[in-house]
Amino acid sequence: MCGIIGYTGHRPAVPLVVEGLRRLEYRGYDSSGVCFAQNNELRVVRAEGKLRLLEDKLAVMEHSLATTAMGHTRWATHGAPTEDNAHPHRSSKGDLCLVHNGIIENYQECKSSLIAKGFRFSSETDTEVLVNCVADERAPGGSLLEAFARALRKAIGAYAVALISPEEPDTVYAARHSAPLLLGVGAGENFVASDIPAFLPYTRDVVFLKDGEIVRITPSSWEVFSLEDLRPIAKQPRRIEWDLQSAQKGGFRHFMLKEIYEQPRAVTDCAAGRVDAALLDARVPELDALPFPGRLRIVACGTSFHAGLWAMPLIESWAGIPTAVEIASEFRYRDPLLTPDELVLVISQSGETADTLAALRIARHKGCRVLGLCNALGSSIAREADVVIYTQAGPEISVASTKAMSSQMIVLLLMALHWGKAGGALPGETLRQAVTGISTLPSLLESALPGIQAEARTFAARYSSCDGMFFLGRGQCYPLALEGALKVKELSYIHAEGYAAGEMKHGPIALIEPAFPSFFLAPHDELFPKTKSNLEEVQARRGPVIALTNPPRPGMELRADDIWILPEAWGPLEAFLLLPALQLFSYEAATYLGKDVDQPRNLAKSVTVE
Ligand code: F6R
Repeated sequence: MCGIIGYTGHRPAVPLVVEGLRRLEYRGYDSSGVCFAQNNELRVVRAEGKLRLLEDKLAVMEHSLATTAMGHTRWATHGAPTEDNAHPHRSSKGDLCLVHNGIIENYQECKSSLIAKGFRFSSETDTEVLVNCVADERAPGGSLLEAFARALRKAIGAYAVALISPEEPDTVYAARHSAPLLLGVGAGENFVASDIPAFLPYTRDVVFLKDGEIVRITPSSWEVFSLEDLRPIAKQPRRIEWDLQSAQKGGFRHFMLKEIYEQPRAVTDCAAGRVDAALLDARVPELDALPFPGRLRIVACGTSFHAGLWAMPLIESWAGIPTAVEIASEFRYRDPLLTPDELVLVISQSGETADTLAALRIARHKGCRVLGLCNALGSSIAREADVVIYTQAGPEISVASTKAMSSQMIVLLLMALHWGKAGGALPGETLRQAVTGISTLPSLLESALPGIQAEARTFAARYSSCDGMFFLGRGQCYPLALEGALKVKELSYIHAEGYAAGEMKHGPIALIEPAFPSFFLAPHDELFPKTKSNLEEVQARRGPVIALTNPPRPGMELRADDIWILPEAWGPLEAFLLLPALQLFSYEAATYLGKDVDQPRNLAKSVTVE
């Protein structure tokens, strides 16, 4: 959701900033822009649509002498995705330029008072209000840092911002509050950006910024201050070990496909240090820092919510901990009743999702301990949780979450085992089967993926012309059905519903007719006979059925229009084969229909607005 990069150094800044924006494209955007300092003047270039259109404009401009610049990809919130609303925005007095990710909630009232003072506006954005606020705060000859801080103290809402002034053409100012922003420390050059890949070709030394911090970078210096009183804050850069290669496509046509194929690795990496195959044991060391929970409340959004829903029965049955799972955007606005012994588990790949972050803060405010399950190192949720568990899945670039979900599910399963052992509720045999299964899962998955993709391609060609479809399952297959439908919607724009198979007869079955296919998740588990009955109810109403099931065995026969055979895994581990099948179906449907797989319309990777 909006990408920011700011650079000051010794290289031509404009191509560097555009390249950085390209590596932030995954966040989702609908317009872009850059601002660069040349001959003590700031030039702003902006374009609606994809970065290529911005590059076309830059190609006919002279900017080779600019060594300070900032760039922005905008995901529209206030005002349509037009060139006028694209960032950077320039103040109507003082010629300051600013880029912004987030929402300034009190921008209307600020705008009215600025208009009364003679400021003019050419966009509908809250960002243009903010840059004019900075200009307004600036006394003649006064410090820009102080004016910037004063304006930000008045801003209510969420922001990551970067600012340049023609008077200090080799300085970039930046600040964050509830939106991601990092500092990249180079040799004779420094960076600010929304995410690490933006500057990773130039430096691996990263300073993670906290809310309420403001930074000033020049080619030879970087300083961090408290927004509250501008007191300097000492920070240490951290070295990032992963390289750009792991954030690039590596021969795959799309990031999403690469990330689906990375799931065996993600499972291995997640299990590392947590599963001991030789001793047939598993534990999650991070949980030692927390008391055994009396109850567990899982809060998350989208795919991460589905991972939580999938894990809930495992935690209840293996660990005996009563568990509820909630959508963060609902939880945060309903004054939830939390008991003091309740642990709140927030799940977020990005660690920046605004609703999940708000849920975390509410839980902490109510005196609960919060455990974060995140993928992005140093993210807001990772920092604000009492304890964080990292999924260790590596950077996920495609907007649609894939390997992050399987890594969340592995960690959640291990947590259920850990608490199950700690509370004494877990049968030893379950632990042994789970550990053996997890140890062999990566190779099983690795060998199965190409075949699953081939099937997915066939079914995508057969069913992508439908106007709608169902994904149906029971037990652990119900959250997977929700996830299958979410993925089809977001990637191929086909309307899809995920439903609990047993709930169909309470209304949705009315939709069934020959042009409305249903994907039944029907592995050979204890609910197979029940799922089979639901499948037959759909067939009786002449609805086409695609059954995702295991190799045939006596007593587990199925009749369907299409049978999609997946390898059989132990108990809950079957989910790790069903999930990529659903992901690959949505991937293939989207490519079949010519959709933008890695950046579906209207979506952003990290949803930093509520
Ligand atoms: C769907 C998807 C989203 C995210 C959701 C939460 O493919 O990616 O539904 O799962 O926006 O994001 P995180 O996990 O970053 O909090």
